[in-house]
Amino acid sequence: MARTCVRYRCGECGYESAKWLGRCTDCGAWGSFGDDTPAAPGPVSAPAPIGEIDGLGAARVPTGVGELDRVLGGGLVAGSVTLLGGEPGMGKSTLLLQALGAIADRGTRCLLVSAEESAAQVRLRADRLGTLAPDLLVVSETSLPVVAAHVDAVAPVVCVIDSVQTVSDPDAPGAAGSVAQVRDAAQAIVRMAKSRAMAVLLVGHVTKDGALAGPRALEHVVDTVLSFEGDRHHGLRMLRALKHRFGGTDELGLLEMTGSGLAAVADPSALFLADRRPDAPGSVVTCVMEGARPLCVEVQALVSDHSAPIPRRVAQALEQSRLAMLTAVVQERAGVAFRDHDVYASIAGNVRVAEPGADLAIAVALAGARHGRAVRGDTVVVGEVGLGGEVRQVPQGPRRLQEALRLGFTRAVVPASTPDVHGMRLERVADLREALARTGVDGG
Ligand code: TYD
Ligand code: MG
Repeated sequence: MARTCVRYRCGECGYESAKWLGRCTDCGAWGSFGDDTPAAPGPVSAPAPIGEIDGLGAARVPTGVGELDRVLGGGLVAGSVTLLGGEPGMGKSTLLLQALGAIADRGTRCLLVSAEESAAQVRLRADRLGTLAPDLLVVSETSLPVVAAHVDAVAPVVCVIDSVQTVSDPDAPGAAGSVAQVRDAAQAIVRMAKSRAMAVLLVGHVTKDGALAGPRALEHVVDTVLSFEGDRHHGLRMLRALKHRFGGTDELGLLEMTGSGLAAVADPSALFLADRRPDAPGSVVTCVMEGARPLCVEVQALVSDHSAPIPRRVAQALEQSRLAMLTAVVQERAGVAFRDHDVYASIAGNVRVAEPGADLAIAVALAGARHGRAVRGDTVVVGEVGLGGEVRQVPQGPRRLQEALRLGFTRAVVPASTPDVHGMRLERVADLREALARTGVDGG
């Protein structure tokens, strides 16, 4: 017999606790645990030998949108719930309609619940995308119980709900669109997905500061959280997994909004280096790994006489702390003074770089900007920098250099242990001083 245990629940975010809390440890709300929170019965469960348990993840449904499949690790898992977050206008509805269209084209039944737009509006978008597969069913509906009835009737393999913030149970207490209601809707949808082994994609709106509305509550209940971001003024869109129960989170999807939907960026490295001025001091090309894919990007640094009482270190698309550390290392280990200077560093194209393989390029860019010296246009710089100023090896060195070679770079400043790459002249360096000398930015 299942044991019944008393659980207290946060009225704000839905966090459950075995004991009453004055302040929710999850969302930080005060007094959100009502002392009359109903006791929820524990689930009826039965232990089974591990080998006899039905594993999710065996069957993945490829979405047919290559960049989405890349980020998902091959496709959608049956019974899984994926939340796609992004600012309005990013192209969330477009991406998911393209995916459903491609899945339905293969004869797999799909249901699109549009809770924001009319079916006619969806049809207009589908015309533009050229996806009119008969196995794609569309309904405009905001009532959760009605959605559940449609799901029962249609029995789709894949279901999109656009958006989770606009569906709710009209009989449920609480204000429409409140965190509690959005969470309840998400939980109901998750139960539906699991019980039917149906893959669900939820659209989630993000607030101005980039957080999903009702963030914690939603991220906890779904299997996968994807973020879709980019510059509204440019066509480039970046898709990443922030959480993924069925695969890694290090793949980057790169798409472009075109007149007929989203298209994969054919040559991302070439795109990111397109407007580069190779003779500019502080501009250095490096190659980072975005998951399985090498990506050449341009690091830019600017150093100016400082204006504020404390010199500024401003990083864009880079970690602030990494820039501060590298600035200190270049100063202390290579003797380039930044004490009286403001330092700015960014990645052109605003593609976020979080891996240490870009360290050496950042360090060279900083010294180049400080001394007003440019690195030769044929040179790519790859390597991690330690606090001692030593240059360390990075994973997949040769693959990175192959990518740089493809784009026309023929000289590489790299860690000492880097193996030969045919066609690339390697300048192997042990430490920062040597790297600055070989790139000609040491000011000497
Ligand atoms: P949309 O998918 O509606 O964004 P979201 O659901 O994230 O709010 O589309 C966003 C923008 O994309 C919209 O301004 C129109 C534009 N767009 C194109 O440029 N090409 C297209 O083929 C489509 C369908 C939309
Ligand atoms: Mg939309």
